[in-house]
Amino acid sequence: MNTRHFLTLQDLSSEELKQIMHRAIELKAMRNRGEVYAPLNNKVMAMIFEKSSTRTRVSFEAGMSQLGGHAMFLSSRDTQLGRGEPIEDSARVISSMVDIVMIRTFGHDTIETFAKHSKVPVINALTDDYHPCQLLADMQCFLEHRGDIKGKTVTWIGDGNNMCHSYINAAALLDFTLNIACPEGFDPDMALVAKHQDRVNIFRDPKEAVKGSHLLVTDVWASMGQEDEQEARMKSFEGYQVNSALMDTAHEDAIFMHCLPAHRGEEVSHEMMDDPRSVVFDEAENRLHAQKALIEFLLVK
Ligand code: CP
Ligand code: NVA
Repeated sequence: MNTRHFLTLQDLSSEELKQIMHRAIELKAMRNRGEVYAPLNNKVMAMIFEKSSTRTRVSFEAGMSQLGGHAMFLSSRDTQLGRGEPIEDSARVISSMVDIVMIRTFGHDTIETFAKHSKVPVINALTDDYHPCQLLADMQCFLEHRGDIKGKTVTWIGDGNNMCHSYINAAALLDFTLNIACPEGFDPDMALVAKHQDRVNIFRDPKEAVKGSHLLVTDVWASMGQEDEQEARMKSFEGYQVNSALMDTAHEDAIFMHCLPAHRGEEVSHEMMDDPRSVVFDEAENRLHAQKALIEFLLVK
């Protein structure tokens, strides 16, 4: 099957990723001018959610409508997916009725299995291992605020989680240096780090990691599915908060991103969220524009 999927950023070439980022900026300008662009008449997206979401659901659903198509929300709580229907069978059935599928789930293998049996493009809307759609929005945001990220230094502070893994992929595709400051025991996947060792540096001390950095990024200390570990993680991540004092030690033009939702007062201080260097709400809005560009890339020939 020649169907293109978007399961990780590695499903795109560097050129394709840049093309999508630039197109997202165009689509954003078109929307701001009130221009209607609706090439997806009759096209339907199935949105499968096995975890909670605000941004992802709203951006995909609004994006499909704005492009002239339709999006259908499917929760595992009230579909047969939640009652154990095999992923392979669900993929065959769902992809026979819609034009594109978006999935938010736990194990990355689930989305790989779904994609293998899907007749239509499958988009990863977050798994335990990757969150590539968020990176489309983040990279668009950096481009808008600071220009080309090539040759710049980005510092990831906190858990070596799904977002961190997607930042590693972005570093490889867009040619930037990624410093990762995480406590011992919370490293990202070391096989992925080894694969991109020319781009990635691991630190234990956030202050060391942010020196000269153009972008600071963090995320919650306990991701969805790790709620039971919240208290223990609060202790492990002590000293890893992004606040204005830490930000002051980065490059003078540095900006701050967080995929949201944020736990203000934990991984990020209250004041940092609203600091002029914080672009978190532009970043969130870009989920809409970036994913419209992605959907167009996958569906409009
Ligand atoms: N950043 C992000 O994916 O947000 P939601 O969990 O609200 O979709
Ligand atoms: N790492 C977080 C990202 C949420 C958008 C999680 O997986 O819960």
